[in-house]
Amino acid sequence: MGRESALTGLVEVHTFLVERLLPHELAEEADLYPLMAKMVGGDDPTGPMIRTHAEIAHLIRLLGQKIEDCSPLGPVPDDLPDLRRLLYSLDAVLRLHFAQEDEAYLSRAET
Ligand SMILES: [Fe+2]
Repeated sequence: MGRESALTGLVEVHTFLVERLLPHELAEEADLYPLMAKMVGGDDPTGPMIRTHAEIAHLIRLLGQKIEDCSPLGPVPDDLPDLRRLLYSLDAVLRLHFAQEDEAYLSRAET
């Protein structure tokens, strides 16, 4: 993969995260989590998931900044460790978050 196509791929991933994933997560927080908290009562179980949303948004901002800092010709070898770290971090946090949400929704559905 050449530098320019790497940059195009990074921009596509970041655009997806900003335009599709983040609005979905914010809509969950605004519409779904309050319902879940009401159903469960007592301690709000959505607090950790809301905190994870903030971490996801933070990592997306850092990725966007790193992409902006790249040359218009694409990332150079010195850019790769930071880009890999951010992408792997996002992958790990998102996998964990989706698993936590699946578990929370399924456990509510079973009660
Ligand atoms: Fe979420």
